[in-house]
Amino acid sequence: MSQEVALEGVTRRFGEFVAVRNVDLTIRAGEFFSFLGPSGCGKTTILRMISGFIEPTDGVVRIGGRDMRGIGPNKRPTALIFQNLALFPLMPVWQNVAFGLEVRGVGKAERRKRAEELLAIVELSASADKQVADLSGGQKQRVAIARALAVEPQVMLLDEPLSALDLKLRQHMRAELRRIQQRTGVTFIYITHDQGEALTMSDRVGVMSQGVLQQVGTPLEIYNDPATPFVASFVGEANVFAGTVAQTNGTMAHIETSSGTFKARVGRGARSGEAAMLFVRPEHMRLGDAASGTANHVTASFSHAEFEGNFVNVFCDGGLRKPMMAQTRSDPRLLGLAHGEALPMGFDAADAVILPQGDLARE
Ligand SMILES: Nc1ncnc2c1ncn2[C@@H]1O[C@H](COP(=O)(O)OP(=O)(O)OP(=O)(O)O)[C@@H](O)[C@H]1O
Ligand SMILES: [Mg+2]
Repeated sequence: MSQEVALEGVTRRFGEFVAVRNVDLTIRAGEFFSFLGPSGCGKTTILRMISGFIEPTDGVVRIGGRDMRGIGPNKRPTALIFQNLALFPLMPVWQNVAFGLEVRGVGKAERRKRAEELLAIVELSASADKQVADLSGGQKQRVAIARALAVEPQVMLLDEPLSALDLKLRQHMRAELRRIQQRTGVTFIYITHDQGEALTMSDRVGVMSQGVLQQVGTPLEIYNDPATPFVASFVGEANVFAGTVAQTNGTMAHIETSSGTFKARVGRGARSGEAAMLFVRPEHMRLGDAASGTANHVTASFSHAEFEGNFVNVFCDGGLRKPMMAQTRSDPRLLGLAHGEALPMGFDAADAVILPQGDLARE
């Protein structure tokens, strides 16, 4: 069983400070939905309002269509997993999993049976009788998930549950979490400031900045069609040119910048005559000979290159605030360039988007 979660005009103030501002959003039943945003943008506050630990100052949270105002956390069909898992380290795994059932008065044999079913889902059947203290970080994470599932929540709320794990394990657990979500069909609402996590696991992502939901979309939409400069700069890397929209022609426009006039796609809300920003992903920047065939050309000089194994990040000075970045397949010739050497750069109109001027994500 899973339920949809609707936020209707949800605002949360702490005194004068607005932590979450007028969020309207419906998370579908059975969806894996992530809130993505930098520290302090209001992610945990949203989760606490869904779980019932705090109430919105304005607006309504509905779970399965039901108004949650006045309904406490233990009366809601939700389960919450924190970064700090709050497991009992010296208790066997299966008893940790069954803990919520014991509180509800379920008998021992039934508890054991249910714990074994849940441990099978998280692939820990062989560890039922181990102590939690003897498990690895990722295994503990899975015990916490099994324990949360034991009370049959219709909505699972996860607040940065992987942030304490090392990189390899975090990447492994992404796939595990996704698999557990698909297997159980429960609505997962996941919070993270890690774009890799949000993009790889989610059906849809909501990007937040300073309490405002900036964009809701599939990972592909968020990356390829960002709604605001904040989203374009927070999710993935981007080269940013500031300027003024010259003339628009349907879906394409020209933008005049201090680095030249460029042709690009018209993003949401960009209008001719207005201040705007042009965004180009590093993987869309062409270098050297490859730049000559593109619609847009930038005069640049080589600064330095970072060898990443399967690709190279090439940084060039082109009169912008930051060096321009191009990501390209490893080519040993790139590493032999001298600092200050002229290096033609270019990009195609379809690979660049113009958005109205706005705040960028902080570096
Ligand atoms: N109880 C509170 N009283 C006052 N301010 C609060 C309270 N809870 C949260 N805030 C403020 O609201 C803002 C959002 O906090 P929140 O915990 O939701 O951020 P977050 O996006 O989860 O950040 P992080 O990624 O660091 O966990 C912060 O500026 C925080 O200081
Ligand atoms: Mg938080």
